[in-house]
Amino acid sequence: MIVVTGATGNVGRALVELLVAAGEDVVGVARHAPDGGLPGGAAFRAGDLGDPGGLKEVFAGGDAAFLLVAGDDPAAVVDAARSAGVRRLVLLSSQGAGTRPDAYAHAVAYEQAVRASGLAWTVLRPGGFASNAFQWAEGVRAARTVAAPFGDVALPAVHPADLAEAAAVVLRGDAHAGQVYELTGGEALTPRERVRVLADVLGEPVRYVEQSRAEAAEQLARFMPPPVLEATLGILGAPTGHERTPAPDLARLLGRPPRTFADWAAANADAFR
Ligand SMILES: NC(=O)c1ccc[n+]([C@@H]2O[C@H](COP(=O)([O-])OP(=O)(O)OC[C@H]3O[C@@H](n4cnc5c(N)ncnc54)[C@H](OP(=O)(O)O)[C@@H]3O)[C@@H](O)[C@H]2O)c1
Repeated sequence: MIVVTGATGNVGRALVELLVAAGEDVVGVARHAPDGGLPGGAAFRAGDLGDPGGLKEVFAGGDAAFLLVAGDDPAAVVDAARSAGVRRLVLLSSQGAGTRPDAYAHAVAYEQAVRASGLAWTVLRPGGFASNAFQWAEGVRAARTVAAPFGDVALPAVHPADLAEAAAVVLRGDAHAGQVYELTGGEALTPRERVRVLADVLGEPVRYVEQSRAEAAEQLARFMPPPVLEATLGILGAPTGHERTPAPDLARLLGRPPRTFADWAAANADAFR
């Protein structure tokens, strides 16, 4: 059985769907039960990675677990999985754990706990997600406008469905223990270019308005703690050469090029209509 934490999120939901379609026995985990259940009728268990006391039951029966970076005690989360009998851990970390370890200390600590687990572990380090453009949906629906900072800085956003596919490969295969994979999209696009792609998909003009750094910080502060906010603005505004460059691991794992931002926009166009 495979236990998928974050099972109602952009990556987790797609991962549950893929694993069920591949014939795996899957349990999805999140703090809140999903409306309408999980894809493929997968079982759901409520669990909070920030409250590891109850996690042993959450992982019970699992051979492999897909973990998110959440909660303050990664060693306790890993212990709960190990004592429940889990033998393989796949962690969805972040590219920032490699490129900005001080700012991503939380993800680094999770990676260390997973590496020290004594289990077969694999770390996935994604760059920014294409689905971060959901933040634009309200402005596009209301006024056909996107306000975002750093309009001319290009980054290779990754499609969550590709992350789910990569996670499924790693969870189901034996060749990935002890590996760290950096997962990005295959093309670096600026926010201005992404807005143009979205407009093409919608078949209507969408206006791009460049936010100042301070305006973007104010907006992001609503759902990000200060160190993560600073690091996020750092990546969006002044990425390193490495962060700007598409990484090869996703194409190697999937045996095909990564999905594009246009693919993501087409699959999620209804959110912008
Ligand atoms: N967005 C990016 O650009 C980016 C880049 C690099 C890495 N990441 C990492 O990727 C992860 C997954 O992204 P996503 O877009 O799939 O996330 P998402 O759509 O926001 O979904 C998060 C999922 O995790 C669950 N969750 C959150 N906190 C939890 C906790 N304490 N215990 C158990 N479940 C919890 C949520 O359900 P409940 O709220 O019901 O618990 C939900 O199922 C992020 O958490 C982040 O660490 C994201």
